[in-house]
Amino acid sequence: MTKVAIIGGTGLTSLNGLEIIGREIIQTPFGEPSGPLVRGNLAGHQIYFLPRHGAAHTIPPHRINYRANIWALKEAGIKQVIAVNAVGGIREDMQPGVLIIPDQVIDYTVSRTSTFFEEGLKQVVHIDFTEPYCETLRKNIISAADSSSISVIKEGTYAATQGPRLETAAEVNRLEKDGCHLVGMTGMPEAALAREQELCYASISVVANLAAGRGTEDLTMEMIERNLNEGMEKVRQLLEAVIPKLD
Ligand code: HPA
Repeated sequence: MTKVAIIGGTGLTSLNGLEIIGREIIQTPFGEPSGPLVRGNLAGHQIYFLPRHGAAHTIPPHRINYRANIWALKEAGIKQVIAVNAVGGIREDMQPGVLIIPDQVIDYTVSRTSTFFEEGLKQVVHIDFTEPYCETLRKNIISAADSSSISVIKEGTYAATQGPRLETAAEVNRLEKDGCHLVGMTGMPEAALAREQELCYASISVVANLAAGRGTEDLTMEMIERNLNEGMEKVRQLLEAVIPKLD
């Protein structure tokens, strides 16, 4: 059976319905992951769960040790990774609570260590990142959503911003002009590092708010958390539907 991990984001620091079997502390050459890897059963299948921001949601997006997290998953023998990401919706149909399975990324992050291939190399390495997400896993997530009548948007370009502040309205206008449809702070370098480690990686992105300048309400953490609660219940149902298909 292929080993599957879920990386939980804001709004998903623990996974309802996950029956915990154990916790594995994994040391990596790159320092500490966001926490121990939680091993458990979801819908009768064994999976691993890693809360990206730490169990108490205290690690901001630019301080996450993305390399340690991906290394730990690889070390545990994981082959497929479903990342859950909270995002702001830029395109009109990306309203709070909507789920998106992005198919492209534009990386606007700065000063994040974004590769495993930089020291002690025998040769320079450039990975192919034309398609940043694993198409097989994306298709499995989409077909699980379709067969359980969970509505998802099946493609979209994810803008990865540096954070931790939210964007200005002008920045969001620029992202839209660039062709981005959703914006979040944690999609990169995670996806690229997963590709470097040859993990099959895809994202379920959950709209927490309309991106800056797109709505009339002030963007507050309370509002983001409130909107995420609804979306995360759908994410949990989708995970329960997709996990059995990944065996
Ligand atoms: N921008 C960036 N990241 C986010 C947002 C946003 O509007 N909402 C949730 N994560």
